[in-house]
Amino acid sequence: MTFPMTRLRRFRATPALRALVRETTLEPGDLVAPLFVCHGDKIRRPIASMPGQAQLSVDEAVREAEELARLGVGGVILFGIPEKKDAVGSEGYAKDGIVPRALRAMRAAAPGLTLWADVCLCEYTDHGHCGVLAGERVDNDKSLPLLARAAVTYAEAGADIVAPSDMMDGRVGAIRKALDAAGFSETPIVSYAAKYASAFYGPFREAAGSAPQFGDRRGYQMDPSNGDEALREVALDLEEGADMVMVKPALPYLDIVRRVKERFGVPVAAYNVSGEYSMLKAAAERGWLDGERAALETLTAIRRAGADVILTYHAKEIAPILGKKFP
Ligand code: PBG
Repeated sequence: MTFPMTRLRRFRATPALRALVRETTLEPGDLVAPLFVCHGDKIRRPIASMPGQAQLSVDEAVREAEELARLGVGGVILFGIPEKKDAVGSEGYAKDGIVPRALRAMRAAAPGLTLWADVCLCEYTDHGHCGVLAGERVDNDKSLPLLARAAVTYAEAGADIVAPSDMMDGRVGAIRKALDAAGFSETPIVSYAAKYASAFYGPFREAAGSAPQFGDRRGYQMDPSNGDEALREVALDLEEGADMVMVKPALPYLDIVRRVKERFGVPVAAYNVSGEYSMLKAAAERGWLDGERAALETLTAIRRAGADVILTYHAKEIAPILGKKFP
């Protein structure tokens, strides 16, 4: 059956008809909002390269979490800005570190909100790398126990989910074992399984103060040219016990999101990273595009590619308009 019997425009005529045949949904509960928590009180320090985002002290982060919970977002993921950095990232696994403090306060204030804790050392090390060093290289195996300790510390403080983003080999297994041994066999691990060495993390490193002080992350994060390797990363993380796998960044890697979803059929998250957010905001500020529509279209596309969950800085602005408006 072809034209004129078939006319695909028939179902595009009205909002109601379009809604009837819409294939992809986007709901507040699909979105997870990243938050940057810092020491101090009543602090809301705007991040210049990420309009609308700020470093928040625990009291402010709690208010933010309460608002996000009211909007029905799927959760928040916490990144910590420590008081002091050192070679081994001590505050990353200290029981009274900034992330455990924020978790405890949020747990009490927003009991229904899913709290994710990012697990990595780069915000806490003075050299800015994601593990401990051996010379100028990140020592994979020496970093594992520290990452596992961080994950247990966050679970103890009330994290519902731990999400390792360091890209060390074997860290999912090490974290699973440590969580189980500490009595947290029910705490899920969302692994940043296919995390690429990306230019799109630039604004985040300003936000978290986590730029590497020498070299770059290409010795542990993935080469943007590789797709098959992403599937191997995912397969290994699942074998080690990951409950959900993440692809990061999102927009330049939608093919990877799709391949992971099709191959493994497991819950998939995609991280719509800082650079993706900033470039859209910058264009919108100049009036070059409609920021709200572009954000909706972007998030819908990430869902359409196969992501169940999207970590995005747009969560707070977009959650209230979902269901009311669509690209
Ligand atoms: C830390 C981490 C990074 C991001 C999330 N966790 C930065 C990096 O690897 O340099 C990036 C998030 C973003 O850009 O929004 N390992």
